[in-house]
Amino acid sequence: MDERSLREFAEVLRGRRTINVFLQTPVPEKLIREAIEVATWAPNHHVTEPWRFYLLGDESKERCLDLCREIVLQKKGPQAADFKRRNWSEKPGWLVVTCQRSDDELLQRENYAACSAAIQTMMLYLWKADVGSKWSSGDITKDSRFLDIVGIDPTQAFVVGLIWYGYPKITPAQSRKELEDVLANLP
Ligand SMILES: Cc1cc2nc3c(=O)[nH]c(=O)nc-3n(C[C@H](O)[C@H](O)[C@H](O)COP(=O)(O)O)c2cc1C
Repeated sequence: MDERSLREFAEVLRGRRTINVFLQTPVPEKLIREAIEVATWAPNHHVTEPWRFYLLGDESKERCLDLCREIVLQKKGPQAADFKRRNWSEKPGWLVVTCQRSDDELLQRENYAACSAAIQTMMLYLWKADVGSKWSSGDITKDSRFLDIVGIDPTQAFVVGLIWYGYPKITPAQSRKELEDVLANLP
């Protein structure tokens, strides 16, 4: 491994940002399928492969937008609901990632960790291909009507994230703590 490609790899890992505002240019489905396939190579204890991926088409997206409006309407009223529906209608790609449930609490915790690793792997692959994403775990992902739209059996699986993806219009800045603030060197 040469120094330069290692630095470039680090730059991809460091440079990925959560994207809120996307261009409307569609992302090729082939690229998304590749990203999902790559994601399945994430570490997963006992090789349980606990993840499932659901790519939403236009009809499903519309149903989610209506549900989003409904949820905000109940909480904040029509103005906020219409605003949020419009905002969400500008998210180009919609992907839902679920985790298989387990009666074994430790196994389910580890499966959730594995699904998280898979999502990050997928988001980094997309970022390298100039595609941004946002991992959302908001109210809608816990709503039984959302599970119905996606076709998730809540006794079998739960939502780890609703992932929006598309080419970034705005890439926000971020910061992190210094390494010394998060690393302990033991003797
Ligand atoms: C498990 C998980 C759930 C998240 N859910 C949300 C969310 O519901 N809404 C949101 O705005 N961001 C959500 N995010 C994105 C984080 O807010 C984001 O990663 C954080 O602000 C750091 O920004 P960065 O990804 O650009 O480094 C979530 C991230 C993770 C890992």
